[in-house]
Amino acid sequence: MQNPIGVFDSGYGGLTVLKEIVNKLPQYDYIYLGDNARSPYGNRSFDTVYHYTLECVEWFFRQGCSLVVLACNTASAKALRTIQQNDLPGIAPDKRVLGVIRPTTEIIGNFSETGSVGILATNGTVASQSYPVEIDKFFPGLKVYQEACPMWVPLVENNEYDSHGADYFIKKNLNSLFEKGENIDVVLLACTHYPLLKEKIEEHLPVGVKLLSQGEIVADSLADYLHRHPEIENKCSKNGTRVFYTTDATEDFDNHATTFFGEAVQSAHLDLETQ
Ligand code: DGL
Repeated sequence: MQNPIGVFDSGYGGLTVLKEIVNKLPQYDYIYLGDNARSPYGNRSFDTVYHYTLECVEWFFRQGCSLVVLACNTASAKALRTIQQNDLPGIAPDKRVLGVIRPTTEIIGNFSETGSVGILATNGTVASQSYPVEIDKFFPGLKVYQEACPMWVPLVENNEYDSHGADYFIKKNLNSLFEKGENIDVVLLACTHYPLLKEKIEEHLPVGVKLLSQGEIVADSLADYLHRHPEIENKCSKNGTRVFYTTDATEDFDNHATTFFGEAVQSAHLDLETQ
């Protein structure tokens, strides 16, 4: 029995990751779920993000998905490890849940010549320390500086990503990051919303600093994972379909989704309480 690959985010942001995954691996079927009714996750507690994420992962499993990608840094930082280590062995030992942090931390050091990298993310991701801890496993000694940018998600969600307000907050957070680590030569957009601000961020970055977004990195890593795990790959259906669900209003999701995914989307509403 084959089923789609599940892709999860707190809202629309994961669509920037799905877009790159679909580019790289168009043959698979995908179900996307945005938990818009309860987003943003960025400022929520560990417990809340864990419970919300687990609830959505269990929904994917009931749809038959054998593989779920958490295309959300906050969920990957706060919920993934507990789900993988504590929940999966009991509820679905033959299914897999992957995140976006590991694929990025495995390679980030390869891009730096100065040995200093910057991480831009939500409050929750920064507070979790997931990036410094994971990067240290692959690149011990690499200096990691973090900056929480809590205004960036609301800017994107309110279509203000090209405004003077966006300039103000981007400059403010980049200045603060480079005050902490002046030798930084690689900056990672460690939040799935931030690629929408990429052009503006590039305008304000010091010359010579490389800007990385995660979509392509996660897509490459997923392709590699499927190649290395034929037992999971064999369970993924391949008819090139994409189905979208949101826990909030479909109209709002569809409007935003076009911006984040780059093509028109027609979503269905999901009420988790009746599932
Ligand atoms: N998708 C989240 C992330 O990548 C950002 C939005 C939120 O805070 O829910 O961290």
